[in-house]
Parts: sequence; C-alpha cells; structure tokens
Amino acid sequence: MASIKVAETKEIAPGTAKQVDLNGKKIAVFNLNGTFYAISDTCTHRGGPLSEGEINGDIVTCPWHMANFNIKTGEADGPPAPRGVETYRVVIEGSDIHIEIP
Ligand code: FES
Repeated sequence: MASIKVAETKEIAPGTAKQVDLNGKKIAVFNLNGTFYAISDTCTHRGGPLSEGEINGDIVTCPWHMANFNIKTGEADGPPAPRGVETYRVVIEGSDIHIEIP
C-alpha cells in the first residue's frame, strides 16, 4: 500500500503531537512512548485541532470543548463529540514517519 512521508521522528518528542498534511487532510501524529499514531486532526464536534490537545496516557483532550479521544483507536468517550475520528496506519522507515494512504 502506498504511503507518504509526513514528518521525521525527531520532530515529535514522546508525549507530544504534530499536525501534518496528508493530501490536503489535516492529520495529528502522536508519539506515545516512542510509538507513533495518526488520527484525524479535526475534532468531530466543531473541528478543534486535536494535535494541540492535552495528552494523558492514550487519551487526547480537544483544546476547544474538552472532548476526549483515544489516540490508538480514534474512539470518542462521548459528548460533546458525536463520534470518533478516523485513524491512519503509521509506518516508520528509518527516521521517517510515513502514513499509509487510505
Ligand atoms: S471542537 Fe472539540 S470538543 Fe468542541
């Protein structure tokens, strides 16, 4: 499956996230203890940037109205988010972070 390089591993420290672009879509890439995960960066409530949210364990909290999303599964834990966000498969090649094109 085709993938696109979106960042380098050194750009995203453990416990942080970065917004990247995947063919015009905003994606949030998270580093959880050295493992990288990618989910849509657009909160399903009103579009808040999840890459700027607070991270606690596997959960990111939307900075706008505090909806919680699971970084590994994209699931929302309830209102105000009406549903979860899309997840994307991350592939590490050397020091490059790639995301598979869905
Ligand atoms: S935009 Fe994310 S909780 Fe409202």
